[in-house]
Amino acid sequence: FNDTATTEIYTLSLHDALPILRREILTHLEALAKAEQYQSKMAKIAKKSYWKPQYHISAPANWINDPNGFCYFNGEYHVFYQYHPYSSQWGPMHWGHVASKDLVNWKTKPIALAPTDEYDRDGCFSGSAIEKDNTLYLFYTGHVVLDKENDKDDAQLQTQCVAISEDGINFKKLENNPIINIDSFPEDLNILKEHFRDPKVWKYNNMYYKVVGAQTTEKTGQALIYKSKDLLNWEFVNVMAMSTEEENLGFMWECPNFAEIDNHEVLILSPQGVEPEGNKFLNLHQSGYFLGKMDYNTGIFERENDFEMLDYGFDFYAPQIMQDEKNNRCLMIGWLAMWESEMPEQEEGWAGMMSIPRVLEVKNNKVYSLPIPELKKLRKNNVNYDVNLVQNCILEGINGDCYELNTVFDLTKANGFNLKLRVSENEETVVSYDKNSKIFKLNRDKSGKGVTGEREVKVNLQDEKISLQIFSDYSSLEIFINGGEYVISSRIYPTQEATGIVFEPMGEIKAKIDFYEI
Ligand code: FRU
Repeated sequence: FNDTATTEIYTLSLHDALPILRREILTHLEALAKAEQYQSKMAKIAKKSYWKPQYHISAPANWINDPNGFCYFNGEYHVFYQYHPYSSQWGPMHWGHVASKDLVNWKTKPIALAPTDEYDRDGCFSGSAIEKDNTLYLFYTGHVVLDKENDKDDAQLQTQCVAISEDGINFKKLENNPIINIDSFPEDLNILKEHFRDPKVWKYNNMYYKVVGAQTTEKTGQALIYKSKDLLNWEFVNVMAMSTEEENLGFMWECPNFAEIDNHEVLILSPQGVEPEGNKFLNLHQSGYFLGKMDYNTGIFERENDFEMLDYGFDFYAPQIMQDEKNNRCLMIGWLAMWESEMPEQEEGWAGMMSIPRVLEVKNNKVYSLPIPELKKLRKNNVNYDVNLVQNCILEGINGDCYELNTVFDLTKANGFNLKLRVSENEETVVSYDKNSKIFKLNRDKSGKGVTGEREVKVNLQDEKISLQIFSDYSSLEIFINGGEYVISSRIYPTQEATGIVFEPMGEIKAKIDFYEI
């Protein structure tokens, strides 16, 4: 509420928000009802925002961050998210909730969790979900600020909690929460009580495992692993993976995920504080992975390669995976935003959205991310071209704000290209490739309001060709390069007029272009 730009919006409803600001003690059900009520008022304002996504998950109003509890339960996919229903700034975290039968059309469900109990009174932080005996279990981190006067990082306590549901809509927190606290691990690990969060649960050989992110007193990141037979009683197994002070792997490992993909084992992490290295790790925090081997007897994950990024854009953080047993694949969804980035949508009563769901594959010792094939359902009004691009041009029928644009460019007779998206008289978002340096870039210096800058990744051509699959929504771009080998995702804030697409070949490009409105 300290946000002057949004005062006008919020003063209208401040009356309703005051009890919450004063931290009136509410039961969980009361707190959920109150949040719901406030959300529906604010939704009327947020709905008017041009930048509110058409086909990506976002909250009806106000702030969201990490995806949580991504799972399949009772015939539907579920995504929960970190949610502050009372403002477009981060605040005491609730869990918002959407569900979908097809991963494409999402429906908002009632808010699932609110921070009302002694052990989670300042936030129900990130976590995951799993089904057992027709019951859905949500595992989350209870966040407590110990010294309210002096709300600093080192005066917090984080513990692991659980809430259960039989209908997948109404969740009841367990009476014996927290189910894991800081006494659970050996003292000599030097884990800080204030940085122990984001449990991700999975099943392996009739045993449940849970990985939790942690920070040590030496300011290094760790992933701790626990096991349980019943999802309620958890036993500490080991430090599953860790960084040393010498490595550039940050000071805290947030949102760990363990995935089995195409017979490979993968540890996905969102480390805070990795320093830039060339064109890598340029965002405030990163999300990426290690391939390796998991030994369930010792609980140790042996890392086999360097930390690799999952997305090279400005905005992709805290991804969560789910094993989609129905379709035998590993899915991932991430927060399409970044901590401390400028978010012009905050002035319009909302903040943050999710990426499109992606399928993970491992090829050539690399994790590939591909858009889920279900998104083809969104395709409308196909326009395609098989052309030789020899000069700067626009192509009839190829323009818009919400679309899927697929291109294969043969660069045998070209040095590269610029592909300008969301173009108006004064705006453009420039995707480019230079054959000499092999650098693929996204530049958002003229992308509209607020944000600027450039992100890049080195891309090898395949038979002199580069292929792009681009998903554009009102305020986002997700660019999948060479069949998911690299991805660049970013928020942009263009005007409604910025619908142009301009092709600028450097030389002669044989191009296959396949465009769909969404
Ligand atoms: C990651 C994160 C998590 C935490 C949550 C709080 O973006 O910082 O570690 O649980 O967000 O909202």
